[in-house]
Amino acid sequence: MEKREQLYEGKAKKVYATDDPNLVIVSYKDDATALDGLKKGTIAGKGVVNNRMSNFLMQLLEKNGVKTHFVEELSDRETVVKKVSIVPLEVIIRNVSAGHFAQRYGVEEGIVFDEPTIEFSYKNDDLHDPLLNAYHALALKLATREEIEEIKSMAFRVNDVLKAFFKSLNVNLIDFKLEFGRTADGTIILADEISPDTCRFWDASTGEKLDKDRFRRDMGGVEDAYKEMMSRVFGN
Ligand code: TMP
Ligand code: ASP
Repeated sequence: MEKREQLYEGKAKKVYATDDPNLVIVSYKDDATALDGLKKGTIAGKGVVNNRMSNFLMQLLEKNGVKTHFVEELSDRETVVKKVSIVPLEVIIRNVSAGHFAQRYGVEEGIVFDEPTIEFSYKNDDLHDPLLNAYHALALKLATREEIEEIKSMAFRVNDVLKAFFKSLNVNLIDFKLEFGRTADGTIILADEISPDTCRFWDASTGEKLDKDRFRRDMGGVEDAYKEMMSRVFGN
């Protein structure tokens, strides 16, 4: 596997071409943004935590029948993944009220739902990722009806697997964001990352926040929260 030119630089990751047209290398940075890019900073060691945790979780999901982009971890920050074209939807699953759900609907955080919810945002920085429903996604030709059905069922399956896994670490999985991609042959697979940047994790005993909300809300203890999640997942 040969690393070639940089294809893309995002807020938290860089993507490089390889000598295989179906594979790319993702490189995780310590850079963090929040509040629609208004807030910028660094979280020391975040790239390592997110790379390793995301790879671990993608492999757990594969074992549970969810197709993902994961191929091979190269180092603490770099991973080979399948090249996909990203479906421009942010898919958010919620088990407990928090964040924008609590704000939008005027409820407190921490209400446990009887059933998980799903919502989509249009992944478009210029428009600030507006919320949309499946009909809007179809009208905008962001995905086909079949793809949207597949994405929904995969997202709920991911929730079942991850919720049970984190519960075993005494962590409640409050909500998370997923992104999906199409491979060259049109298969929908789970892409992007699953990490404290993209999930809300609350300690099941104390309710302590162990995720990026500590950065978004200037709570302090950001690095320690990422380290804590790392050690719960990998033990030590
Ligand atoms: P929200 O409550 O701000 O909508 O966030 C829901 C979940 O999605 C939360 O776990 C954080 C994650 N998320 C991202 O990964 N990227 C984003 O840009 C946003 C807004 C949320
Ligand atoms: N990823 C950021 C967040 O989680 C969103 C942004 O870039 O503003 O809040």
